[in-house]
Parts: sequence; C-alpha cells; structure tokens
Amino acid sequence: MSTLVSQLTEVVGDAGILTGKALAGRSAGIWSGEALKALALVRPKSTEEVSAVLKICHQARQSVIPAGGMTGLVGGHESGDTDIVLSLERMNSIESCDPRSRTMVVEAGTILQTIQEKASDAGLMFPLDLGARASCTIGGNIATNAGGVRVLRYGMTRDLVLGLEVVLADGTVVSSMFDMLKNNTGYDLKQWFVGSEGTLGVVTRAVLRLYEAPIATETALLAVPSWEDVMGLLRHFDGVLAGGLVAFEVLWRNHYELNTGPYSELEPPLSESAPYYVLIDVFISDAKQGRENLEALLMQCLEENKIVDGALASSETERLKFWQIRENFEPEQNKFDTICGYDVSLPIEAMEKYVEAVETNLISQFPDAELYAYGHIGDGNLHFSIYPGVAKDFDVVNKIIYGPLKDLNGSVSAEHGIGLEKKAYLSLTRSETEIDLMRRMKMMMDPNGILNPGKLFDLVED
Ligand code: LAC
Ligand code: ZN
Repeated sequence: MSTLVSQLTEVVGDAGILTGKALAGRSAGIWSGEALKALALVRPKSTEEVSAVLKICHQARQSVIPAGGMTGLVGGHESGDTDIVLSLERMNSIESCDPRSRTMVVEAGTILQTIQEKASDAGLMFPLDLGARASCTIGGNIATNAGGVRVLRYGMTRDLVLGLEVVLADGTVVSSMFDMLKNNTGYDLKQWFVGSEGTLGVVTRAVLRLYEAPIATETALLAVPSWEDVMGLLRHFDGVLAGGLVAFEVLWRNHYELNTGPYSELEPPLSESAPYYVLIDVFISDAKQGRENLEALLMQCLEENKIVDGALASSETERLKFWQIRENFEPEQNKFDTICGYDVSLPIEAMEKYVEAVETNLISQFPDAELYAYGHIGDGNLHFSIYPGVAKDFDVVNKIIYGPLKDLNGSVSAEHGIGLEKKAYLSLTRSETEIDLMRRMKMMMDPNGILNPGKLFDLVED
C-alpha cells in the first residue's frame, strides 16, 4: 500500500476507502458503461475527515476529483487511474428542516429527491428539480449550479443556497452557514463555489432555501403552430398566471413524435400535430377555481389559434406521463443505442432560425444525422440530441452548434457546465479577461492545483 493510501486510510478507516479490486463494482457515472478509474475512492464521514483528506493530498500534490451522484453530462467528474476520487456518499444527513425560517440544513451527499421529499413532508417545497433527481446529490447540484425545469420561477441552484460550508484544497474549512435571505456583508464567498465544478473547494454542507408548497400543480401539453406563438404563449402565460407559471418546456415535433411513437411506451396525448409542443407546469392556490381558470385560458388560446390542440392532465399519473414525454431518454436509447446531448442558451427570438441552421449544416456534413431539439425554452435554454453517425466527429458537430453562439450573445453551456467536454469552447462565451481572472482565483485558492485539475480551463494556455 502506498504511503498516501495508508495516510488516507488512517483518516477515514478501512470502510472509508476502496482501492484495487474493491473498486470493481463502481461505475464511472450513471451515463457511463465504464468502471470508475481511481487510485482510491475515499468516502469521508464528516467535514473534519474531508479536511484531513485534503490536507494530506495538498501536501502530496495529489489530484482529487470530487464526486457527487456522477450524473454530470460534460465529463466534470471524469477521473483517471492516478486520481483520488472523493465521494461524499456517506455524508448524506438532513440535519434540520425548519418551517419558520423555511430553510433546510443538509450534508452535501444528500440525494436531491430525498431533500424534495423531506421539504414536502413539512408542507414546504425545495424547487430545484431535474431529470436526474433520484441520483444526483445536492453537493453536485451546488458545485455545478444545476438548473432544471423550474428555473423560470425559482432560479438556478445558486438562488436557492443561503449558506455553505466548503473545504479548501489545503484542508481549511470555510463555514458560511447563514440562514437569512439577506446578508450584505462584503463578498458573497459562497457564490465563488457554486458552479465552480469542484475546482475551488469541496462543498460539505449547505443551508437551502425552501418555499411554501403549492396547493396544486396543473400540467398541460399544447400543440403550437409557430415559433411566434411559442414566444407569445410564454409571455401571455407568465403575465396572466400571476407568478404561477413554473415550467415552460418545448419539444420540437420530431422529438415529441419519437417520445410518443413506436420506440416509446407512451401514447401521444394529443391528436393534432404541430411543429412545437409546449409543456407547462402551473402552481395554483385554489384547486377548483385555479383549474377552471386554466381551462378557460387554454380554451381561449385554442379559439385564437395560438394552439391547435391541448390537454390538461386529469390526474397525477397523467401529469407524470406528460413529463415523461419530455424527460424520458429511453426512446432515444432504444432507437439509437447511444446518448449524445447538447446544452446551450441563446435569446428565444433567435432560436427558430438557429435550430434550422444547425440542422442544415449538420445534414450537409452528416447526411444520416437526425437532430432532436427540446429544452427549458422559458429560460432560453435549448438541448439537442444528435444521432447517428456523428460520434467520430464531435469537433465538427461542436463547431456547428457552438460556432454561432458568440454572435447571438448565447452561451456554450446553459446549465450543464463546462467540465472537460466544453473546455475548448469556453472562450466563445467568456472573454480572455474573464478566463484570466478565473485562473488567478484558481491559483490563489488551490496553489498546488489538486482539485479537479484540467476541468473548466487549463491553468496554462496551449
Ligand atoms: C434535460 C437535461 C438533459 O433537461 O438537462 O433533460
Ligand atoms: Zn436540461
């Protein structure tokens, strides 16, 4: 056993560290078919242990890859044979859930869905919600500033974190566990770590902001005849529903048809076909009246030809089925046996033409390619899945997708982060001055460069 591994074992105990054959059952992430690569997987049980582990690694200049639920989509948690993977899976307690302050204190390894359920049991709501809810951890959500399906109303993860405890690369524990909405006392240090993708520190605990739970949630699926109408409906609903519109998702026609067609177990809930399908969630404060108002609103949209068809879910089961049409990737896997996803942001008014241009350019390079577009359009966040035959040529596809974004004032990552996969394109969204400041922050916070090295940006330019 190496000196480093025995030093780490002394800190976390035999059950807290896995090496060699003991790592065999561990996977490199929920989307990956591969085994986890690591010198050791270290599983501390407390902030003190995280601190001791990092102190040892800092002194030994040992690379450390912080790991949450490993659901990331940009290689941010990718590790190699010589890395220590630091998992917070044994730090998964909910320490408190307080309805008066509407806050929850959690350890970073807590699964997002567990947090949502705990809040719901207390009559409250933690609004962060995304497809990977059953596997992702709050520490990972914070480190990547996760977005998801309710950003339109509640913001990204950074808007839901009131306080944070973080361990720096050298083992220093920084505790900013405030639980007030307002704390205007200098730099907002916690926000340095939110979205830093594990490069500046390891999140160990957090104070989360909770909201009152809605009386009821209504979900509607709408077939929309034009992009003008998609944009019009977003503004119309956001206006007349008086803050009740919490999700506004769009599926382009072929994506809706794939997810309700022969490769899917789901039946299409609408009989009319349209170029766009909008999925909305609406929180209402009066179950009966709220539903009637929404029905009347949708009926009016139909009469005015803003939609050509629509369905309001009639039960919780149906509501979840509508969401499955948006969130389920099994039909794609069934048809193409692979997943290849993209995540960008751009102004909603430029989206229709952008998607058309991406599709045209893609097909001119890869005649067999199929482009599926969908996403959190209420947030200006578009996702693509692209199949098949492009896997060998990601650079060409990346250029087609990311190339136009600079001129459109868009971003190469709306919510998935940069990780490894988008590193080469960071400068399309961030200026050299910004990237240089990020490098200076990294060098100040992690002078030996041990935390998630090579992710986000390289310390030295090529
Ligand atoms: C989603 C993931 C891909 O929105 O971000 O489904
Ligand atoms: Zn998404």
